[in-house]
Amino acid sequence: RTVYLNGDYLPEAEAKVSIFDRGFVMADAVYEVTSVLGRQILEFDGHLARLTRSLEALGMKNPMDRAEWLAIHHKLVELNDIDEGLIYLQVSRGNGGDRDFAYPPEGTPLTVVLFTQAKPGLADNPQAKTGIRVISIPDLRWGRRDIKTVQLLYPSMAKMEAKHQGVDDAWFTEDGFVTEGTSNNTYIVKDGKIVTRQLSNDILHGITRASLLRYAAEAQMQIEERPFTIAEAQAADEAFFTSASAFVMPVVEIDGVKLGSGKPGPVAARLRELYLEESR
Ligand code: PDD
Repeated sequence: RTVYLNGDYLPEAEAKVSIFDRGFVMADAVYEVTSVLGRQILEFDGHLARLTRSLEALGMKNPMDRAEWLAIHHKLVELNDIDEGLIYLQVSRGNGGDRDFAYPPEGTPLTVVLFTQAKPGLADNPQAKTGIRVISIPDLRWGRRDIKTVQLLYPSMAKMEAKHQGVDDAWFTEDGFVTEGTSNNTYIVKDGKIVTRQLSNDILHGITRASLLRYAAEAQMQIEERPFTIAEAQAADEAFFTSASAFVMPVVEIDGVKLGSGKPGPVAARLRELYLEESR
C-alpha cells in the first residue's frame, strides 16, 4: 500500500512518525474517514468542512486548501487502485520534541497522514440484509464528542464488550438517552417517523447523517430530532445507524430484545437505497 505522509507518497513500511508526535503520546489529533464507491470519493466537501471545524476547535489551522486535499485523495485512490473502500485521514499537532502537556510552539508543523483501506463489497454489505445486533453501554467519553479526535479507546472497549457478548456493536447511553453508536449515529423509526438525537457537543455531527436527513426530507419522510431511550428503541418498528463506512445499517436487536419483526425494516432499506443513489 502507498500512503501519504507530510507531502510524500511512500510505501507504508517507510512512512515513519516520531515517537514524540502528539498524536502518539497525547491523542492530540483529529481524523476523517471518507468512503470510495466505484472509484468516486463520497461527501468530500462535508468531510473537509468537519476536518476544518475539528482542527479549529483544537486551535490548529487547516494546513492545506481544498484542491490540495482533493488531489491527495484522488492520487491515493489511483495509486492503490481503490474501487470500493475507505480513505483515512489524520492530522496531529506534530512533533512536540518531548512529552509535554503544553502545546509545542506556534509554527510546529502538523503531521498529516492519509491511507486507503480496500473494502470490496462495501455497498453490497451482507449485514445490510441481515441487520446488526447491539448492546447499550454507558457513554463514558469526554464532553466534546463533536470534535472528531483519535481518542478512541473507550469506543474500542465498547466494541470489544459487544463482541464478548456475541453481538456486533454498542450504542452509548447518557442520562437515560442514547447518544450515538461506537462509530455511528443512531436512529429509530416509529409509525413511519424517523427519530434521531439532535446535534450538540454530545455527538459527532455525522456527514452521512446530514445528507441522509436532507434526502429523507426531500422524499417527504417525517423526521424528529430529539433524544430517545433504549426502551423506546426496543419498542420501535425499526432502528438503524449511519456512518461513512456503513452508510445506512439496520439494527434488529438491542440488549437481547428483537425489534418489530426481528428483520431489517422497509424504512431503513429505503433510506439505504436513497443514500447510495443520491450520494454518488
Ligand atoms: N466514524 N459518531 C461517531 C462517534 C463516529 O465515530 C462516526 C464516524 C459517526 C458517523 O459520522 P460520519 O457519517 O461522518 O461517518 C458518528 C468513522 C466512520 C470511524 O471512526 O471509522
